[in-house]
Amino acid sequence: MGENEKTWDFDSWADQYDEAVTSDYQLYARYDEVLDFVVEIVNVIPRTRVLDIGTGTGNLALRYLARGATVVGLDPSRKMLAKAIKKVGDNSRAELRQVAAPFLHIPYPDDSFDAVVSTYAFHHIPHRLKPASVYEMIRVLKPGGTWVLGDLMFEDEKAERKALHQYKWLEEEYFTRIEGLRTVFTGLGIELNVRQFTPVTWVLWTIKPK
Ligand SMILES: C[S@@+](CC[C@H](N)C(=O)[O-])C[C@H]1O[C@@H](n2cnc3c(N)ncnc32)[C@H](O)[C@@H]1O
Repeated sequence: MGENEKTWDFDSWADQYDEAVTSDYQLYARYDEVLDFVVEIVNVIPRTRVLDIGTGTGNLALRYLARGATVVGLDPSRKMLAKAIKKVGDNSRAELRQVAAPFLHIPYPDDSFDAVVSTYAFHHIPHRLKPASVYEMIRVLKPGGTWVLGDLMFEDEKAERKALHQYKWLEEEYFTRIEGLRTVFTGLGIELNVRQFTPVTWVLWTIKPK
């Protein structure tokens, strides 16, 4: 992390996290719908291999497992992962691993996954590291594979500033500015699809060209 960059203590949040997503109607409004939509976008067939980055307590990973996918879930927080491991039980299609920087250094070869997905985690990546994170996610995605990101984000910095002013419950984090991320994808020759769920929550998705 660079100087003055924010860090969060996810281990100490692990016990309350699932309660928070069901009781916080502002930051986590439409949480289940967002996760369901992220799952729907991926065409899961037997042996579909999904990478879930910042898997947390496993709520997204569980949905893909229920559809028959094989899921690799990466997260830096040991305690968040412990929750996920408990929920997943002995499902042999799940691999949950503690990785220090799973958006930036994904410990898998190029073209490893049919889908790379993430929900409510990318806003912990500083703006200066977001382009490198995108390149890393696209690197491990197979050509023709699906990339999906559900998170707190804004169209641009101006919209972010307006929301931070308007919603007193919104704390400043490294919210994706869609306009900037679109430029990163355009540089890769990839177009982004976007759908807004709440004033602060969007899902972005695309297919890696063959
Ligand atoms: C708000 S939770 C989201 C969990 C889950 N994806 C969900 O949708 O409920 C954020 C998760 O991101 C993880 N995280 C924090 N910093 C991260 C980073 N730099 N890279 C990847 N994941 C990170 C946290 O440990 C935590 O489990």
